[in-house]
Amino acid sequence: MIKIVRARDYADMSRKAANIISAQVILKPNCVLGLATGDSPIGTYDQLIDWYKKGDVDFSQVSTYNLDEYFGIADDDPQSYHYFMNKHFFDHINIDPKNVHVPAGSNTDVDEVCASFDKMVADAGFCDLQLLGIGRNGHIGFNEPDDVFSKGTHCVNLTESTIEANSRLFEREEDVPRRAYTMGVQTIMNARSILVVANGEKKAQAVHDMCFGPVTPQCPASILQLHTNVTVVADDEALALC
Ligand code: GLP
Repeated sequence: MIKIVRARDYADMSRKAANIISAQVILKPNCVLGLATGDSPIGTYDQLIDWYKKGDVDFSQVSTYNLDEYFGIADDDPQSYHYFMNKHFFDHINIDPKNVHVPAGSNTDVDEVCASFDKMVADAGFCDLQLLGIGRNGHIGFNEPDDVFSKGTHCVNLTESTIEANSRLFEREEDVPRRAYTMGVQTIMNARSILVVANGEKKAQAVHDMCFGPVTPQCPASILQLHTNVTVVADDEALALC
């Protein structure tokens, strides 16, 4: 059963989500957080940075594992998810850089990247809290609609709709990488709690299908219905069909 928390707008969604994450960090200072990129969580990170600066939340013992990274892209490339995380979160808080983990996009040895990332997440005991955005087609991380649910970390070919949606962050659509590393659905489901943030009408169908549609790999987020501790914080527009 997915808990739905209705937010008025993006700012309200972000504060509510940040409240849930900061409660996790306060209750377990050395917790393991699974983190996401995209526009949806930026406001959540902004709010957490603000509370960190005010001394309300301390990340010094927190470990993080990011969901995904483009394939064949260097960590310091401004289009990489590693760069995104530094810019929007890590550079502004007291996290220990050795506790930050993002799949190594620049390493094109797929088997090595996937096996080592899975081992790291497992050795950390999986995530206490996994933050997720949701794609317009119901993808989580870069787990795209498919005939089967994925398990561990793997390298995917992105769908046209995802390439198009993400092209806003690149100068030209042809610059968007066609492949990406992503944590698998099973790894995501191993998190002890999951927090999904969604805003805007473009997410309304995906949010509906995630919460109330059939559990099917054609909507990867629908598997979250089988988890016992999932909270969706979404604004009115994203909840329009629920
Ligand atoms: C991207 C990311 C996802 C993210 C999704 C939604 O493809 N790989 O992790 O959740 O798109 O992004 P946004 O929040 O910008 O809508």
